[in-house]
Amino acid sequence: MPDDEGAALHAAALVAVTEMPGCPVVEVGTYCGRSAIWLGDAVERAGTGSRVLTIDHHRGSEEIQPGWEHHDPTVVDPTTGRMDTLPFARAAIEAADLAATVVLVVATSMDAASLLAAAPAMVFIDGGHGDDETRADAAAWLAKVPIGGYLAVHDVHDDPSTGGQAPRRYIHDPAVAAGFEPVSTTGSLRILVRRRLGVAP
Ligand SMILES: C[S@@+](CC[C@H](N)C(=O)[O-])C[C@H]1O[C@@H](n2cnc3c(N)ncnc32)[C@H](O)[C@@H]1O
Repeated sequence: MPDDEGAALHAAALVAVTEMPGCPVVEVGTYCGRSAIWLGDAVERAGTGSRVLTIDHHRGSEEIQPGWEHHDPTVVDPTTGRMDTLPFARAAIEAADLAATVVLVVATSMDAASLLAAAPAMVFIDGGHGDDETRADAAAWLAKVPIGGYLAVHDVHDDPSTGGQAPRRYIHDPAVAAGFEPVSTTGSLRILVRRRLGVAP
């Protein structure tokens, strides 16, 4: 995540937990913790008793597995031969001194959504980027955001030549139809706020 997108995420999270003190910020897709640190710093600065729940199975999305362009071989566990980004995320959160604020949830997005009862002040979706994964994340998470809560979606591209279309087609656009109003665009990061409780088509 580039710094301008991180700063936009930080600003939105700060507003979200100031307006909804105590409510969590949920991130779908921790990877090695970079965006979680932006979110954690915002929540600590707000000082309103919220925390960040950052969710990842830590086995990597389909599009970052071996053989794909953005695969990083250093995050493969040599014992199992599978990606495991959890040690990197834990180290990054601890190095940033944010372990008390950022809770690492090792789970699939679907399992975490089914277990989370609290209304989130903000949900940031940056998990799997395929059609099925983005559809499932939208189905699991959009309905959880209350009126006044925020939604952030990464890798939203209007122009197919700049990136994949699934996050826009299956998360961003259905969110707008379900009562979210666009607030800002920074790079491929979109921030929205919920104005009414609609149902995504
Ligand atoms: C694009 S990376 C997240 C990057 C991170 N938000 C950042 O900016 O630093 C996507 C992550 O989503 C995780 N992921 C993909 N599908 C998932 C699912 N269904 N449940 C949980 N995590 C998932 C992958 O393991 C991967 O680490």
